[in-house]
Amino acid sequence: MSDSSAKTPTILVIDDDTEIRYSLSRVLSSRKYAVIEAPSGEQGIAMVKKGPAPDLIFLDVRMGGMSGIEALQHIRSVNPKQLIILMTAFGTAQTAIEAMKYGAFDYVMKPFDPAKVLALAENALKAHADLRAVSDYKPSINIDDYREGMVGSSPVMQDVFKIVGQVTASDVTVMITGESGTGKELVARSIWKHSHRANKPFIAVNCAAIPDNLIESELFGHEKGSFTGATVQRIGKFELCDGGTIFLDEIGDMALQTQTKILRVLQVGDIQRVGGSETLKVDVRIIAATNKDLEAMVKEKTFREDLYYRLNVVRIKMPPLRDRTDDVPQIVDFCLQSLVKQKKARVSKVSPEAMAVLTRYKWPGNVRELENVIYRSAVIAQGDAILVKDLPVDIRSAAGVPIEPQETGEVAAAPASAGSSIDTALDTVFAELKVSGEGILPRLERAIAQRALRAEAGDEARAAKLLGVTKTALQKLLAD
Ligand SMILES: Nc1ncnc2c1ncn2[C@@H]1O[C@H](COP(=O)(O)OP(=O)(O)OP(=O)(O)O)[C@@H](O)[C@H]1O
Ligand SMILES: [Mg+2]
Repeated sequence: MSDSSAKTPTILVIDDDTEIRYSLSRVLSSRKYAVIEAPSGEQGIAMVKKGPAPDLIFLDVRMGGMSGIEALQHIRSVNPKQLIILMTAFGTAQTAIEAMKYGAFDYVMKPFDPAKVLALAENALKAHADLRAVSDYKPSINIDDYREGMVGSSPVMQDVFKIVGQVTASDVTVMITGESGTGKELVARSIWKHSHRANKPFIAVNCAAIPDNLIESELFGHEKGSFTGATVQRIGKFELCDGGTIFLDEIGDMALQTQTKILRVLQVGDIQRVGGSETLKVDVRIIAATNKDLEAMVKEKTFREDLYYRLNVVRIKMPPLRDRTDDVPQIVDFCLQSLVKQKKARVSKVSPEAMAVLTRYKWPGNVRELENVIYRSAVIAQGDAILVKDLPVDIRSAAGVPIEPQETGEVAAAPASAGSSIDTALDTVFAELKVSGEGILPRLERAIAQRALRAEAGDEARAAKLLGVTKTALQKLLAD
C-alpha cells in the first residue's frame, strides 16, 4: 500500500510456537506493520473480540487447544470481514483448502520464505482496501429490465435491436453473421420470441455438428428402410418445426447437396423424407447464421449463389465485442446479476481497475469469452467484488498489468524450463515422503488432486479434465 496517509496496519499472529511468533513478528515489523501476538486460538479470539480488530491475522492451523480452523470460524462469526491468512505445515494442505472455504484469504506453507510472507500480507491488505473502495458500486444495468438476455447500448447494438424489431412482424428470412460468441443465436431466439410464431417451436440445427450423410435425414426425416440403419421412420426437424422457426446455425458448413434441398424448401415450401415419395407442405421460417465469409464462399462456388440470395434477404451483422467496448460494463453486470440469481456466485461488484482491464481486453471469443471470465473470476473472488487479482492471468497480462511471480499457483505452475525444475521438485517430494512412512502414491495423488481442484476454482469436472481422469476418479482421490 503506497498511501502514506493510511495508518500503520496491525497484524495479529496466532501460533502456539514461540519461535514462529517471534520470527514472523520480526519479518513483519521490518515493514510498516504493527505486530501483536497470541499464543493460542482462544487468546487470539479474545483479542479480536476486545478490539480494535487487527487489519490482518496470521493464524496457525495446528495448535494445542483450539485448532486454527475452529478459531477461524469463531473469528469470522464475530467479524465476517476479518482478513485471515492461515499457516500450515507441509501435508496439512487438505485442512488449508477446507479453511479457504470458511473464508481465509490465503494460506502459507511452513517453513516460510520472508519475502513471500511480506508479499502475501501486502496483497491481502491491498485486496481488502480495494474491496472497501468499491463499497459504493453502482451497477450499470438492472437485469430485471433485460428479460431478453441481451444488453448493449452501443450504437452498433442499438442498430441490431432495431432490425430485430423490424423483422419480427414478417416471416422474412434472416441471415445473421458475426464472429463466434457475438450473440447470433441469442438474436435468432429473440426474433422468434417476438414473432407471431412464438407459440410454435424454435429448433436450432447446428449444421457443422451433423455429418454430411446424416444431415438430410436430420432435417427432412426418412422412411423406414430408406438406407442401411434406417430401421424406423424418422420425422425431420422441418416437419417437427411446422408453424415455427428453424435456426440453421453454421450454415456455411453445409454440403452443397443439402444446400440444394434447403433451397427447395425456401422456393416451394415443401419437403420429402429421405426415401419417401410423398411431398409434405411445411410452413417454417428460416433464420440462418454463420461465422464464415459466405460471399467469399459464393465466389469459390462452395456455397450456392441462389441459396445465398434466398437466405440473405435481411442481414444482421453482429459486431465483435472489441468494437463496442462501451457495452462491456453492462454485459459484466448482466452476467454477475444472473450468476447471483442462479445462486452460482455471490459477487455483485467489480473494482474500477478490474473493469478497466476487462474493457481494454480484445475478447477474441467475444461475449461468450467475457461471460466465462466473469464466472471464473466471480467464483474465485473472496469478497463481494471482482478485483484485478481475480482475473485470469492472460487477460491481465494482455491488458499490461504486471504479473507478480509470487502470485498463488497460476504462475508458479508454469515454469519456463519445466523439465529440470519439476524433476528437482519431485526429488524433494519423493525424499520427504519416503521417510514419512505413508504410502507415497496415494498421498501424492491426493495432493495433486487438491491442487487441480483449487486451480479450477472448485470445478470438479474441469479439475478432472486437467488431471486426465474421470470425475468419479477425482472424487475418489479427494476422499481417500
Ligand atoms: N448482448 C448480449 N448481452 C448479454 N449476453 C449476451 C449478449 N450477446 C451474447 N450473449 C451471451 O453470450 C453467449 C454467446 O452467445 P451466442 O451463443 O448467441 O453466440 P453465437 O454468436 O451464436 O456464438 P457461436 O458462433 O460460437 O455459436 C451466450 O451465453 C449469450 O447469452
Ligand atoms: Mg451459436
